[in-house]
Amino acid sequence: MPRAVILGVGGHVPERVVTNQDMAQWMETSDEWIFERTGIRQRHWIEGEAGGSELAERAVRQALSRAGVELEEIDCIILATLSPDHTFPGTGCFLQERLGLPGIPALDVRAQCSGFIYGLSVADAWIRVGQYKNILLVGTEVHSTGLDISTEGRDVACLFGDGAGAAVVAAGKGDERGVLSTHLHADGRYAKDLWIEAPGSRFQPARITKDMIDAGRHWPKMKGRRVFTKAVKHMPAVIKEGLAHNGMTLDDVDLFVPHQANLRINEAVARLLGIEPDRMYSNIERYGNTTAASIPLALRDAEQEGRLKRGDTLMLVSFGSGFTWASALLRW
Ligand code: UT7
Repeated sequence: MPRAVILGVGGHVPERVVTNQDMAQWMETSDEWIFERTGIRQRHWIEGEAGGSELAERAVRQALSRAGVELEEIDCIILATLSPDHTFPGTGCFLQERLGLPGIPALDVRAQCSGFIYGLSVADAWIRVGQYKNILLVGTEVHSTGLDISTEGRDVACLFGDGAGAAVVAAGKGDERGVLSTHLHADGRYAKDLWIEAPGSRFQPARITKDMIDAGRHWPKMKGRRVFTKAVKHMPAVIKEGLAHNGMTLDDVDLFVPHQANLRINEAVARLLGIEPDRMYSNIERYGNTTAASIPLALRDAEQEGRLKRGDTLMLVSFGSGFTWASALLRW
């Protein structure tokens, strides 16, 4: 069975840069507080009206050109987002329309920060059984239009950035390259520890009302300490699970590419595992947390910076809302 190989990655962030100093004009916070707690210096936010499908299109076109694959060769779209352009249909369909690829399947994945690895797992399975050959795997988010940019919402608002990342995932040629394994987990007991409550189809008389908006129930809410603690527990475990499955050790991994939620989380994971900090990739300083887009954006940047070479062994790892967590071991 052919392995799934990432042939090329691309990324796109909006031009507008929002620094920590900008945030401090809108809420009681400071560059020092945000940077010390999270490692974030700035993030990119859209200007005017733009959805995740627009950002995704730019990321996809870059990924295709780096992969050397023509758009017409794509036979499936998998798109991960927690900030869909509209409630329905899936953002994958809006991306498909923008790309001009009618007819092929478009699947949205709702696994938040783990969306890219969950999507990679699905892509790998479909490629192994021969169902599809060239899959576009995309993570895209527009967070900025859904954040409470006041002191009340500062714990969440300071973290998130807009952006998209994309990968062309194709059937390998039977060599060493490709996805070796993926390991996926979730624990819905913590679903409300990082969530947006409304709009919701469970509410009467409408999915959202003025009263709900007045009460701020449409803003993201997070139990930050709990997210931090659980991330630091589950990320090392799912890394070890992936390595054990392949009979490998931490020393076999050239680069760890973690979800970029908080630099302090990733530093703690590295410390717990005894990994040198420079083997744990980070670009959160420039983008903040871009959720489903963060791992493909990190792969794009790591490759551009010369940190990723053909044949390297990579460990992708994530933790986020759901809670969901996952790892993927692959040879680049
Ligand atoms: O993909 C997953 C996404 N989420 C995460 O990864 C979040 C994981 N959690 C974290 O990163 C941290 O919990 C935060 C960075 C969000 C918060 O750091 P913390 O050290 O856990 O702070 P805290 O929530 O315990 O709050 C400490 C204080 C509070 O003030 P009081 O009650 O002590 O007076 C907060 O109101 O810091 C305050 N605070 C802020 N102050 C300045 C919270 N957010 C901010 C802010 N600027 N942006």
